[in-house]
This record gives sequence, structure tokens and C-alpha cells, in this order.
Amino acid sequence: MTDLWWKSAVVYQIYPRSFADADGDGMGDLGGIIDHLDHLAELGVDVLWLSPIYKSPQDDNGYDISDYQDIDPLFGDLETFDKLLAGVHDRGMKLIMDLVVNHSSDEHPWFVESRSSKDNPKRDWYWWRPARPGMEPGTPGAEPTNWGSAFGGPAWQYDETTGEYYLHLFSPKQPDLNWENPEVREAVYAMMRWWLDRGVDGFRMDVINMISKVLPLTDGRATAGAAYADGSASYINGPRNHEFLREMYDKVFAGRTEMLTVGEMPGVTVDEAIKFTDQDRHEVDMVFQFDHVWADRGGDPWKVIPLQLTVLKGIFGRWQAGLAEVGWNSLYWNNHDQPRVVSRYGDDSPEHRVAAAKMLGTVLHLHRGTPYVYQGEELGMTNFPFRTIADFRDIEALGQFRQAVELEKKNPEDVLTVLRARGRDNARTPMQWDDSPNAGFSSGTPWLAVNPNYPEINAAAERADPDSVFHHYRKLIQLRHEEPAVVDGDFTMLLPADERLYAFTRRLGDTELLVIGNFSGDTVRAEIDDAIAWEDAELVLTNVAEPQGLTMAPWQAVVYRRTT
Ligand code: NOJ
Repeated sequence: MTDLWWKSAVVYQIYPRSFADADGDGMGDLGGIIDHLDHLAELGVDVLWLSPIYKSPQDDNGYDISDYQDIDPLFGDLETFDKLLAGVHDRGMKLIMDLVVNHSSDEHPWFVESRSSKDNPKRDWYWWRPARPGMEPGTPGAEPTNWGSAFGGPAWQYDETTGEYYLHLFSPKQPDLNWENPEVREAVYAMMRWWLDRGVDGFRMDVINMISKVLPLTDGRATAGAAYADGSASYINGPRNHEFLREMYDKVFAGRTEMLTVGEMPGVTVDEAIKFTDQDRHEVDMVFQFDHVWADRGGDPWKVIPLQLTVLKGIFGRWQAGLAEVGWNSLYWNNHDQPRVVSRYGDDSPEHRVAAAKMLGTVLHLHRGTPYVYQGEELGMTNFPFRTIADFRDIEALGQFRQAVELEKKNPEDVLTVLRARGRDNARTPMQWDDSPNAGFSSGTPWLAVNPNYPEINAAAERADPDSVFHHYRKLIQLRHEEPAVVDGDFTMLLPADERLYAFTRRLGDTELLVIGNFSGDTVRAEIDDAIAWEDAELVLTNVAEPQGLTMAPWQAVVYRRTT
């Protein structure tokens, strides 16, 4: 068996503002999480990851931090945090925090000082640059490079105080920290140690493959019709990324046991991920890659193309093979940035939603890696029926809509079609606890509308129904805890060319598991070698009442086990 505890663990992500509101202000809070810890213990998860709860102007819902060592009053205070941490530990779970240190808030005292004058000691803690040579500072096109920011508009903000620009890969209220400066790094490490000393068990690291920039900063690749260029070649996996993470390990984690570190890394390749997660290199335990959640856009973020199952299998197959010997995968369908998977890659119609949600969970959790469950995924929560742009609250949706419609002259309906399918607010609607008003999320007015399907889809109903998505997820988690082949078994993809069935085996010693998921509304026979023998094997888990061997009902999943 494995020596690394997180290989058999399942992580549950909480987006605090949408989880549960204990004080009735319409916004989730720490008290709400404390009230629902038993739901998570019953599900059986091992680790909770909290999206940011630090002091923040909330420009990007807390991913813009103005004090890394305090709790935003919206969520509570440090005393309540300690109570929550104790409640988590009492139930045998761990808690990891979100670490957002590619950027801070522009209201962080570090940035307030940095912007105050060119000779302030903290000037170099952020990325300041003069206007493009020969251009009038502050005029369109005078930005130091042509990069666009993730939320629309340029990646540089002109600051009149000193007549220079600062870099922000995300919103103008999220200035990028300058990791080249050793004082910045030491300040971050000290803050991390402070949280670990308080008892937290690790970190999920926000866009941590963007902290090292390629110097000098230069123009990126321009695309026809796009208002700004793509600068990512200058900041994805920059030249000092591995060095910085290794230094962080040495200065923060070395000597501490039972920690978990996971780096969010948009655009990371398999080869780089092997290095990031090689335990001998002391960088991070696992990374979040994005290939499988970018499978429905065909290289263009403004496209929504139907999922091609062979493409998805190609991606997972490559990651499973790539990290088989060295490194480790994280496994996720959902998080606070992604639409709901049952709507995205499944079928959220009343007829198929429950089966599809269970099938998607089964396929994901039976891969080799550490699965992450995002709040509400265990209920099969769905995308929200957004009508107009006025229904969105997310800074990304609003900023991208503005840029696409006003600057790039795209058709607003086309832009809305993409945002409805993929907008981040799909994941951020309040957690559906029961069928009382506001789904039991809040006694006040929720900050984002509750999905109208909460009378049918909610935790109370599902906990009481042994055939619910909730209980299926509970069984998946239990299976990982009890069956070593789920954790450590090798992975073999079957039927790679099939557009409807996702099939693979896992083998450890003499135990072999067969997993099949039907990604379609058709009845399909799985034509695998050895099919007849497999039908006699032990059926460990399925999602239909009357399974017919390897003849798969719509959206059916099966897990078989045999000893050879
Ligand atoms: C990735 C986070 O997951 C996302 O929610 C956030 O907007 C950006 N990083 C910027 O922090």
C-alpha cells in the first residue's frame, strides 16, 4: 500500500460565500460551514478545501486579498475559524486553505505602499513599468505590453500617482506580486507558516504556475479580431517556477508531516506536471491541469462544441500514463470556476440527471489520482437557467461580455450562449440544502439566485434516499478507502475509439477492476475482450436497478471486481 496518505483521500471543496449562511445576510459564512460539517463527515471526505475567506474587497469573490492573516468579516473572524478547524479535526478530517499569492488586492498595504512613490521600499514588490516608448502614458495602446487580462481589458493599469503601469493578469484590483523579489517570497512563506502553525493542513495554490515571469516582459501573440494579445508564453510556467516552489517547500513545508499541497496550473503539460509532482523534487503533491475542462471549446474559449468522448478519453489516458511512474494526478470535474458537470458532459434532463451524475462520478473516482468533489456535485446540482447578462455576478462573465460585445463587436446572444454553458456563476449558485425557501441556504436574500430546481435537488432529500447521487458518491469514497486497487492499481484504457462508452481496468496484484461508463442516452453493449467472463465477476457498484451485464443502459456505470 501507499505511504502517502493523500493517495487514498478525497477532497471536498467549499466555496464559502455559497455554502451556508448562518447569520442571515445572504452570504455564506464560517458559521454555516460549522453547521454542516456532519453532512461532509457522512459523505466520508477526508479533506476540506476552503476557497478564500481572508480579508478582501471581494472584487473577485475573495481571490483579491487585502490581509492574508485575517478573516473577512463577511465570513466571520479568527476565533470562529479556530472553532471550524477544531470541528473538522474532531471529525477526523483535514482542512486546506486557498493560497492566492500570484497577486494580492490593490487594497493590500503592500500595494498601497508600492504605488505611493517610485522610491518606496515596496515599489519592487509588484510589476511596475513605464508606458511603451514614444507613447503618451495612460492613452490606449501605451500599455507596456499588448497582453489582455483574464477578465477583459488590458493586463496593465495606468496609475497616475507615479505615471507608470502595474501588471494585473486578472482584474485591475489584483496586481501581480513580483516573485523575483526575495522579500516578497519571504513574506509569503512567513504567512504560510503562520497558518500551518495555527493548525491548517496545507494549501491549494491559485494559478501557481504564473508566479515566474519571462524577463524582459515582451509583447504576446495577437489574434485577428481579439482586442488584446495572449501573453501567456511570458507567464505560464516561467523559468523560475520550479525553483520558487522548491524554495517554498524548504522554507514552509520541510519537516511538517501530513500536509497536502495542490497547485492550480492552467496550461500545464504532462511533462511539466511530472516535475512539479515528483516527490523527490519537493515542489507540490499534485496539480490541477485543465485539458479535460477545455475539451469542449476546441482551442477557442468563445466556442462551445459538443463533447467528443474520444477526445476526453485521449486526455485522461495521456495524464494517467504520464504520471503512472512518477508524480500524481488530481481528479476533478467541478470547481468554483467550472460549469456543473452533469449539465456539461452529462444530461441534466429529469429523465437522466441522476444516472448521469452518478456515472460521471464513478468514472472520475475510479481513475488513479486524488478526487476532488465540489460542493453540490454530490447532489448532482445543475447549471443555472441564466436569461440575460443581468443574471450574472461574476467579474469574469461581466468583463468578458463587455470586451466581446463593446470592443470586439461580437453578437451579444452568441456571447451569452457561451456564458450560459460555461460561466463560473453556474457553480456558485447557493448550495441546495432542503426544500425550504432559498433552499435552506439563507434566511436573507442570497447574493446570487438559488437554482429553481432546489425543491427536487437538495441535500435533505438525497440523504434520505438510498438511491440518490449523494449515497452513490458516499459509496465511491468508501470504495477508495477500502479497495487498494482504486488507489494504486495501474490503469489501462479500453475501447479508446468508442464515442459512447468510457471503459478501463485497474489492476493491483491479483485484483482487477473493470469500470465502464455510458456517456450516451443509448443502450450500448460493451464489446471488450473477455466480456463474458467479466459478467460473472463481482458487481461492486452500478447505478441502475436491473443491470444487464455489459449491456449498458443509458448513462449507466458499472464497477466489476475479480481476482486472477
Ligand atoms: C483561479 C481561481 O480559481 C479563480 O476563481 C480566480 O478568479 C483566479 N485564479 C484569480 O485568482
